[in-house]
Amino acid sequence: MVQITFISPDGAERRTVDAPPGITLLKLAHFEGVDMEGTCGGQMACATCHVILGDAWIDAVPPPSDEELDMLALAPDVEPGSRLGCQIVVTEALDGLEARLGPC
Ligand code: FES
Repeated sequence: MVQITFISPDGAERRTVDAPPGITLLKLAHFEGVDMEGTCGGQMACATCHVILGDAWIDAVPPPSDEELDMLALAPDVEPGSRLGCQIVVTEALDGLEARLGPC
């Protein structure tokens, strides 16, 4: 199991959960009851799964596709670590990942 920490948008709350490799951050959040919206269900059509990865983790995940970048451009308050949670697939290399939920 890999440990992933979700952080509330204001940084006040942290929740670390076990994640099976292969699951997306969006599906993990929904499974664990973390408040990540994900309106389109992972079809890259909403950006409501916006997460901001901790600085140390930005280069640990594969770079975003052009389609992901296009959708992120519609998200509010995008930061260098911004990604779509539905596009981040958990791997063993992401053990300890911290992902702050983006503002909706
Ligand atoms: S869930 Fe809609 S873009 Fe990720």
